This record gives sequence, C-alpha cells and structure tokens, in this order.
Amino acid sequence: MAMQREAGVADFVLLDQVNMEKFMDNLRKRFQVGSIYTYIGEVCVSMNPYRQMNIYGPETIRKYKGRELFENAPHVFAIADAAYRVLKQRHQDTCILISGESGAGKTEASKIIMKYIAAVTNAQGQNEIERVKNVLIQSNAILETFGNAKTNRNDNSSRFGKYMDIEFDYKADPVGGIITNYLLEKSRVVQQQPGERNFHSFYQLLRGANDNELRQYDLHKETAKYHYLNQGSMDILTEKSDYKGTCNAFKTLGFQADEVQTIWRTIASVLHLGNVEFQTIEDEMVISNKSHLQSAAKLLQVTETELSAALTKRTIAAGGNVMKKDHDAVQAEYGKDALAKAIYDRLFTWIISRINRAILFRGSKTQARFNSVIGVLDIYGFEIFDSNSFEQFCINYCNEKLQQLFIELVLKQEQEEYQREGIEWTNIEYFNNKIICDLVEQPHKGIIAIMDEACLSVGNVTDDTLLGAMDKNLNKHPHYTSRQLKPTDKELKHREDFRITHYAGDVIYNINGFIEKNRDTLYQDFKRLLHNSKDANLSEMWPEGAQDIKKTTKRPLTAGTLFQRSMADLVATLLKKEPFYVRCIKPNDIKSSTVFDEERVQHQVRYLGLLENVRVRRAGFVHRQRYDKFLLRYKMISQYTWPNFRAGSERDGVRVLIEEKGFAQDVKYGHTKIFIRSPRTLFALEQQRNEMIPHIVTLLQKQVRGWIARRNYKKMKAAITIMRAYKTYKLRSYVQELANRFRNAKHQRDYGRSIQWPLPPLAGRQAEAKLHRIFDFWRAYMILRKYPRNEWPQLRLQIIAATAIAGRRPYWGQQRKWLGDYLANSQDNSGYDAYSAIVTKLKNSGAGGGESFRQVLFSSFAKKFNKHNKQADRAFIVTDTNIYKLDGIKKKFRDMDRCMPIRELTSISITPGRDQLIVFHSPKNNDLVFALQSESTAPLKEDRIGELVGIVCKKYHDATGTELRVNVGNNIACRLGDKSRTIVVEAAPNVENPSFRHSAGNIIFEVPASYCV
Ligand SMILES: Nc1ncnc2c1ncn2[C@@H]1O[C@H](COP(=O)(O)OP(=O)(O)OP(=O)(O)O)[C@@H](O)[C@H]1O
Ligand SMILES: [Mg+2]
Repeated sequence: MAMQREAGVADFVLLDQVNMEKFMDNLRKRFQVGSIYTYIGEVCVSMNPYRQMNIYGPETIRKYKGRELFENAPHVFAIADAAYRVLKQRHQDTCILISGESGAGKTEASKIIMKYIAAVTNAQGQNEIERVKNVLIQSNAILETFGNAKTNRNDNSSRFGKYMDIEFDYKADPVGGIITNYLLEKSRVVQQQPGERNFHSFYQLLRGANDNELRQYDLHKETAKYHYLNQGSMDILTEKSDYKGTCNAFKTLGFQADEVQTIWRTIASVLHLGNVEFQTIEDEMVISNKSHLQSAAKLLQVTETELSAALTKRTIAAGGNVMKKDHDAVQAEYGKDALAKAIYDRLFTWIISRINRAILFRGSKTQARFNSVIGVLDIYGFEIFDSNSFEQFCINYCNEKLQQLFIELVLKQEQEEYQREGIEWTNIEYFNNKIICDLVEQPHKGIIAIMDEACLSVGNVTDDTLLGAMDKNLNKHPHYTSRQLKPTDKELKHREDFRITHYAGDVIYNINGFIEKNRDTLYQDFKRLLHNSKDANLSEMWPEGAQDIKKTTKRPLTAGTLFQRSMADLVATLLKKEPFYVRCIKPNDIKSSTVFDEERVQHQVRYLGLLENVRVRRAGFVHRQRYDKFLLRYKMISQYTWPNFRAGSERDGVRVLIEEKGFAQDVKYGHTKIFIRSPRTLFALEQQRNEMIPHIVTLLQKQVRGWIARRNYKKMKAAITIMRAYKTYKLRSYVQELANRFRNAKHQRDYGRSIQWPLPPLAGRQAEAKLHRIFDFWRAYMILRKYPRNEWPQLRLQIIAATAIAGRRPYWGQQRKWLGDYLANSQDNSGYDAYSAIVTKLKNSGAGGGESFRQVLFSSFAKKFNKHNKQADRAFIVTDTNIYKLDGIKKKFRDMDRCMPIRELTSISITPGRDQLIVFHSPKNNDLVFALQSESTAPLKEDRIGELVGIVCKKYHDATGTELRVNVGNNIACRLGDKSRTIVVEAAPNVENPSFRHSAGNIIFEVPASYCV
C-alpha cells in the first residue's frame, strides 16, 4: 500500500525545500509524465492535461474506493472518496470546492467527482437511487448546453456558477440533490466578443435538429443568418451530437414533451428577436422585417401586434392615467436586447428548477433529517478578457470570495487555532485578499454600493458619472486605480477604464454598460406580454407580469447587490460543511497537452497561494480533535482507556493512549485538542479502531442478548406463576365441585357410581384419571368392607370370573368356597402324597418345558380329549405361569412332557350348562380339551369351572396386562393336531358320567340332560 513510485513527489509537502522553483520543478515533471494530480496534504492540485487520460475507468475507481489519500497515487477520486467517507462515517456535511481560472478543468473535475460518487454508491442497485444518480449525471449535459459557451479561453466555458448538493440518506446512498445557479452571463445572448460564441444551445438547435423541426421554428441552418450568432465565432464544435445528448437528458430527467417544446421554441424566438430591425417612418417607430417578428410572436405564443407594440412603445402610468409612449431607435434596440437576454436568463433558471424537481429528495421530512450532503462547487473561473465588463467584474469578485474562504479555512483559521491551543508555531505570511473583497462589497464604500447609489439617483446618470464617483471614493485604495487617478498609465482609457488589482492579477474593466447592467431593468410591457403568453410554461417564467400596471412597485434590487447576496449565502452554506479542495491549474493558453507555460503556471501557483498552503501544511497537523471526542472514538484500542479512563482528565487519557500506542512523536497536545501531524498515525488509529469494532459489537450483542434473555425469563416466570395460580384455582374449583357432587355418595346404594363427573379443567385431565382410580378404590372398599378380609382373594377371583363369563353361564360355583388346589386335598385326592411330591419336583425343576413356578393355584382330575380322538382320565394343575397335564393318575402323578404357558393362551371356551367342559386355546393349534371330574371319574358335585376361569384369567392379565377372551357356547370350535374341530354338547339319556365321543369329524360331549340349560 505504499505510495507508488512516480515522478517528483506526490505531495508538495514532501519537497526538500519549499520555494517556487522546487514547486514548479515538481509540477512540471509530473505534468510531463502525465501525473496531473499532486497533493498538498488534503488539497488536490490538478493540472489540465488537455488530452484524454486513461485514469477514470472502473478499474481505477475500484482502487480508490474506501482508501486513504496516501494509499494510492494522487487523484481527484481520492478527494471525492475522502469527502464521502467523512459523510458516511461521521454523518457530516462536506463540500468539494473546485477553483481555478477559466479552462483550468473545474467543470471536468466536478463531473469526474460525480461519476466517482455514482460508481461507489448503491451496492444494492436500488432503482430510485439509480434514477437519482442518472439524473445528477445527465443534468450536466443540460446545464452545459444552456449555460456554457465557447470563449477565447475555453471551448466549453461555464458562463454561470453552479453549486450542487448531492443528498445522501443515513446509509450514505444518494437519494436526491439540488442545484443552485449563480448569475448567468446573459449579455452573451446578444453580443459576443471576437472569437467567442453564444451559448451552445443555439448551435445545437440549428446544427442538430432536423429540417422538419427547424421548419417548425422558421429557422435556417446557417448561423450567419442570425444577428445574435454572427458577431463572434461561428466555429463548429460537437453540437450536432450534443443536441441528441441534450434531448436524451431531457427524457431521463422526466421533462414533458410540452416543456421541451417550450425550451426549443424559446431559443428559436430569441434568434428571431435578434433579427428584428426598427425603422422610423414619418416619426413613427416601425418594425421593418416583419417575418422575424411574426415568427418570434408565433414561437412565444403571443400575438404579433402585442409583440410589436411591446417592442416599439412603452406604457406609462402616471397619476392614475395610462399612456403609451413611442420608443426612439436606441430605446427600441436596447429594449429588444434586454428582452432577449431576459427571456434566455429566465428560461435557464426555469430549466434548473425543472431539474431540481427531478432530483428532489422524495422521502419524508423525518427521513430528510437524517440526510447529509456533499456539495460540489464549480463556478466560473477568474478571467481576464481584452475587454472586461460588469460580468467579468462579478465573476472575478466571486473568485475573490472563494479565495477568501480558502484563506479563512486553510491558512488563517488553521494558524489561529494553533496559537489558540498554545501549539508552538511560526507564523506563515500569506496574502490575505480580504482587502479586495472589501473593495467590492463594503457597505457604503465598496464598488457595488457606489454603483447602486448611482443607479438609484434621479436624473441622467451615466457610466461616466459612475466612474467619477468610484474615483472619488476609492482614490486611496491600493487595489483600485484609473486613468484619472494615475494619468501616466497609458494602458487605461481615459474616463472609461478602471483597474482592480485582484489576488489573481490586474484586470482592467471598461465602465461602459455598468449602470445599465447593474440596473438590469426590463420594461414592464415585456413582463406583461410574456405572462400573457398562451404557452403556460413560458407564462410561468414571468409571474410579475400579472401585476396591475398602475401599481407602483418597489425598485428591484440591482444585479450587483443580488449577486453579492447570493455569494454571501453561498459562503455561509460552505462554511457549515467540511471542505475539500481541488485547485485547478491551466498549463498553457493554447490548449496544448505538452506545453508547460512556465510564466502562466507560476502566476496561478502564486495567486492560488499554493506555496503558502504547502508551508502551513508542512508546519501543521493533518488532524485535530477535542480530547473528549478523541477519547470517545479511540478508547477501545487501549486497555488503559477501555471501557472508561478514570485515572485523570480526558487529556491524560488521550496521552496514555497515544503513548501506549507509540505515537507520541507524532502528536502535540493543545489546550483542548490533540494535534496529529501525519496521516499515517491517523490511519493507524482508525485501523486499530476498526479491528476492535467487531469485538465491541459482539460485546454489546452479548449484553443485549443477555438482557433480552433475562427479561424474557422474568416474563416467563411471571407467566408461570400466573398460570400456576390459575391452574390451582381451576383445580380447586373442580375438586370443590366434585366434593359437592359426591357428598352423599357414601349413602347411595351404588356408592356414587351413577353420579356424573364434572368436566375437568385442562390442567385437571391427569388428576381426573387419578381421582377416578381413587374413587374406584374407595367404592371397591365400600363394597368389600362387608366381607372379611380373608375372603377377599376369592372374592376377587369371583369378580374376575363373573366379568369374564358376563352372565352367559348361570352356574359357576359362586356360592361355595373356592379351594383351588383340590388335588392337595385328601378328600378329593387319595393319592395326594404322590401329588405333593410331583408338585414339589415340578416347582423346583420347571419340568414339562415350562418355567419353574411358585404356587399351584388350581388342580383337578379331568377327562381329556386328544388329537387322536381319544379320551383319557388325567389330572392337571394350573400354576402361576403354566397349565400342566399330569399323567398316571393312579396315585402316581407323572408330569407330561408339555405344559401350556398361560400368557400364550389365545382364549378359553366353556359351555353355558352345568357341565365342567373347558377348552384352553393355544396358538400352536393344539388346544387342551378338559372336562373336570372327580377321582373316581364321576362328575363333580360342585361347579369348579367358574373358579378355573377366574384363576386363569387373572394370571393371564397379570402376565400380559390384557383380558383373556372367554367364549361361552354349546358348540366350541377348537383345533386338535392342526385340525379344526367342533365340540358339541349333547344331552344324552341314561348318561351319568359325561364323556367325549368322536362322531363324523366332530366331538360330541355327552352329558346328562340335567346339565343342559
Ligand atoms: N481531467 C481532464 N482530462 C481531459 N481533459 C480535460 C480535463 N480537465 C479539463 N480538460 C479539458 O479542458 C477543457 C476545459 O475544462 P473545463 O471546462 O473543466 O474548465 P473550467 O475550469 O470549468 O473553465 P470555466 O471556468 O471556463 O468553466 C475541457 O473541455 C477539456 O477539454
Ligand atoms: Mg466550467
């Protein structure tokens, strides 16, 4: 990023000696190799290269974007970027003041700056911003068409002053703008000096418009035909193509078709007016070439008679009477020219108002408050012609004011500040041009005041008398002289010339025309005439024409005073902004890209005060800042000052910071401000700050996030408390309601079973389930408490059995005591010893393919029917896990190989009758078919099916958590050895012991008739 190697030094501050010779050497060397820009600190000195330079393309723009001045070769882009950065970073209005004499390259520089700003803004490509940028750039084409002209110094000389504010929103995107124009040199409309031309607009119309258009305006292509064009040069420049550019610019800026029509018609009307000639015939003033009169009237949309009358006569209102008075030839000529000038001048101002309308910021007033601006000032440069008139006087006065501003800001204020702050300083001498500004503008004594007085006095005041008055009042002024005051000076014409020694050189002004131009009067008749034009746009340009003729109006301010005021306003506007300077220099007067005219350049360097600028700069400091502000901006880069410096004053804090960072050699401490000498230090500070910013942002984000989270947490907690209270309230109401409803449940027959439960609140859903359980338990308890506790297990089994059978079998032994393990009972089983032995064995070994068990829950003798259609007398036991068949019942009780796990049962089938048939269905397609019986194979005296069902169902539920299905029917479908079979219960006469019989694929279970229901 170091400065590139280039011819001479890139900053005059770096010259080994500061004198004119070295300064000129450097400027010359750099000009010769095409390095047209050189800095004096932050001031950019620009040499007009008079050739196209390849240094304004997108590649170069990218190089300068967001860069510090010293990072790249000097360029006007860097100045634009610096101004833009100040605006962006500090939201501070800035301005770029471009000065230099006519042809030095001010307008070009202003366009380059605008192009740069347009290129580096609007990264998001927003339409409105693009539009504004386009309008800003295209407006130049229009301004130059109507406000520029070829002079002897510059083919495209600005003949008006232009100050453009580019407005940026808070994101630093251009969102609007406003152009202020200063004093157009309108005398050029009617008269041009040899070698010069009228405003470009006239040539563009004649040479750019097609025949059809010209016919509309009654115009011919030849400029020579028009008096207002044929006095000076008729050189052809680039107007043919420029005309198209102007028309396109009108479109971009949103000019309406009728507005563009008005503009070109008005331009054409001025040309026709110029050709109007007067003749006195028999003491009456008449217009000799009527065709131009007719055309002018047509184009201005007034009647020929009206126009003719306004050109030849004057309306006078005196004592309530209105009279017409003929002009003499001189008055008529004067009136015609004044009209042409005024028409053009007002048109120009009107065009600018239209441009402003297109670029006006369209946001709200509130938004506008956050906008900042970059002002670009491109004003006519200092100029000396062979004959200088009122216009040159104004232009040169304007340049004096700007030079004064430069002196004020760069030379004077800077030096004064050093003194005020107690910084060691050797004063640098410079020429202060205040004395010249005073010469022109001082109240009562200045030239403008003297001119105004002359214009106001009654009687025939001539330019000659004005010069006399000036001589009388200013004879002691060192910067003013005339032939009367200095009779030996042959350069000055007697009673015509006066000389002002401007900061930029001596200029001899010719007094002729001063009074008239200063008064700038235009007959009321013209104002009325144009106000009444049928062209609404034109009429709008002449609002005073609406005034009643008899009304005496206050004398309007003179042109000089108006200009002086506008300059004072301009200076006030600029003073509010942070200024950046581009000082343009012209290398020669012949527009050559190679000639370096030593004398001419040196002259400009001298009057622009560039050498003094270098000296002040060299001795000075690039940056100063109040201690508090400085600390606020950079405190984050030092551990001693972050987050707050508490060990002393702000000044101490700044000192600690600077010393820690090793910049002590490069700064000085003033009373209230720190002064930093080199840009590098400032840059380093900025860079370190930029590096810290992300950390600070993270820190702030952390704090804010923490704060937000804490706030949300508190809110949540509050919500939870509220919710909890509400839930409790709802639950309590619910429980209260429940309590009310169940108050009498204890005394009801069904212990409140029929009571309708209230709807629980959302939060009470779970509670409801629990309450239901509690209620069920309570109710069960209430029912069961009538029974002794030792009966409860049987009761429980009975309930299970009753539920499973669900009224489908009337007899299921519910009346008797359930003993379960009947085979362990000697009354039932004579071989109970052997039985107990096998049970113990089974218990321990878990034989029969089943797991070991803890307890036998049921046992019985039974008749079993198998897959081979055989029935056999067996016994079986039901443990807590399995059903075991026992073989060899004759007091031996062998266990059989298979057992059936209860959890694997698919269902149980029983009949509705008194028989003791039960089928255990297994998924293995081999169901167990038993009919309970006694040891002697006689039927049991009591029903034990209910008990068996209760026990198996309970165990099944214990093991699986689901209910075992119990089928009740006289026909039982079952599977034996993979075959589907149906057991049909049949009452058979003379049968005492129920038994199975195989019949046609089915199994008949024959029972005594009394068993059937
Ligand atoms: N940077 C540049 N590159 C190329 N040519 C330039 C440059 N600057 C100026 N010129 C040439 O110099 C001519 C005069 O420049 P410009 O119109 O900017 O002068 P000015 O200072 O505005 O003068 P005036 O006070 O008369 O308006 C331009 O028309 C152009 O030919
Ligand atoms: Mg210019």
